[in-house]
Amino acid sequence: MRMVDLIEKKRDGLALTTDEIQYIISGFTNGSIPDYQMSALSMAIYFQGMTEQERADLTMAMVNSGDQIDLSGIEGIKVDKHSTGGVGDTTTLVLGPLVAAVGVPVAKMSGRGLGHTGGTIDKLESVAGFHAEIESEQFIELVNKNKLAVIGQSGNLTPADKKLYALRDVTATVNSIAMIASSIMSKKIAAGADAIVLDVKTGAGAFMKTLADSEDLARAMVDIGNNVGRNTMAVISDMSQPLGFAIGNALEVKEAIDTLKGEGPEDLTELSLTLGSHMVYLAKKADTLKEARGLLENAIKDGSALHAFKVFLEAQGGDASVVDEPAKLPQAQYSFELEAKAEGYVSEIVADEIGTAAMLLGAGRATKDSVIDLSVGLVLRKKIGDQVKKGESLVTIHSHFENVAEVKEKLYANIKISIDKVEKPTLVYKEIT
Ligand code: URA
Ligand code: CA
Repeated sequence: MRMVDLIEKKRDGLALTTDEIQYIISGFTNGSIPDYQMSALSMAIYFQGMTEQERADLTMAMVNSGDQIDLSGIEGIKVDKHSTGGVGDTTTLVLGPLVAAVGVPVAKMSGRGLGHTGGTIDKLESVAGFHAEIESEQFIELVNKNKLAVIGQSGNLTPADKKLYALRDVTATVNSIAMIASSIMSKKIAAGADAIVLDVKTGAGAFMKTLADSEDLARAMVDIGNNVGRNTMAVISDMSQPLGFAIGNALEVKEAIDTLKGEGPEDLTELSLTLGSHMVYLAKKADTLKEARGLLENAIKDGSALHAFKVFLEAQGGDASVVDEPAKLPQAQYSFELEAKAEGYVSEIVADEIGTAAMLLGAGRATKDSVIDLSVGLVLRKKIGDQVKKGESLVTIHSHFENVAEVKEKLYANIKISIDKVEKPTLVYKEIT
């Protein structure tokens, strides 16, 4: 096989075979296929797309380029949830204990990464003593015992994806549905899940800004999962405004605790119940989605979801007393209110810009080496559709510095108030199976 012939084949709109894709991915990973040829192929894929079979083949070739996590020591059907990323998305913190409480094993591998806030592990580290650096034997043991554990990314997972994503990033070829879907799914599959629930975000704060694009991506990922033997479904959910109220690390832990108590924001609660129902259903712990939802609602009501969170934190060294005394979480030195300059209805809270404001406070990493301040961030006091009086607080700003003029300016520029009544945005647009 010669790479140049395969580039030509894709350039001309023909489908690559399983063997050809395997040859390309292993050659690119081991360095025998140079970046310039892979760049040309990426551009050809960008324009010509890939068939359903090619996408599944690309995904599995990337899975096979490195280690795979073996979760076979865990009893039951392991269901993983993946979000395509949004602002203030606290669902992972809620969903872990929530579905664990009804017996679904959650073996979560998580990262830190760049973003408006830290990743799941950063957030959890706002609980004193909590750590995710555990051995894989202990990880498996904890999931069997408590149905929930979180481990930091370890091993050499999907090196082909790492290399290809970096190359796409500098060759204007990130935005290809075929390659995004394969990239995301390869990481989920290598992490060992039997079944996968995807939360594909749509709107200003999402990777995919339009519903049509989000739907295409969701469909592509669901097809890949199902074609390679992992039961997969996707929910398309709103990310025009941040999810819930809190955007920040400790602030989101507090929000997750509230939600597990049944006192959380309406949208975060609803999305957690929706995604959770699908996880419970795919794990075969309920025969219908309705039954699954009932189990979860009950776990919130009877306190078992909250209890599961305490048990999980303690098992990984965390001080579980924060669940009853959230004031023990890291607190910022200052707090300021963003007062509405006019009365009316909140019509827009531009998610990605609000996320950037949280990052300016120090809640997220701008570069790989930035240090996160776990205590800082934003708490929205109003969401789209809410009525607001002049002078009422729109946002509480938690900061460790006194001068927040730049943050306030950014928030004012991205929270719009209209005189006319505004409808609440749809939260869940579609479910794709
Ligand atoms: N996220 C990923 O993990 N991969 C992509 O290609 C795009 C977004
Ligand atoms: Ca939130």
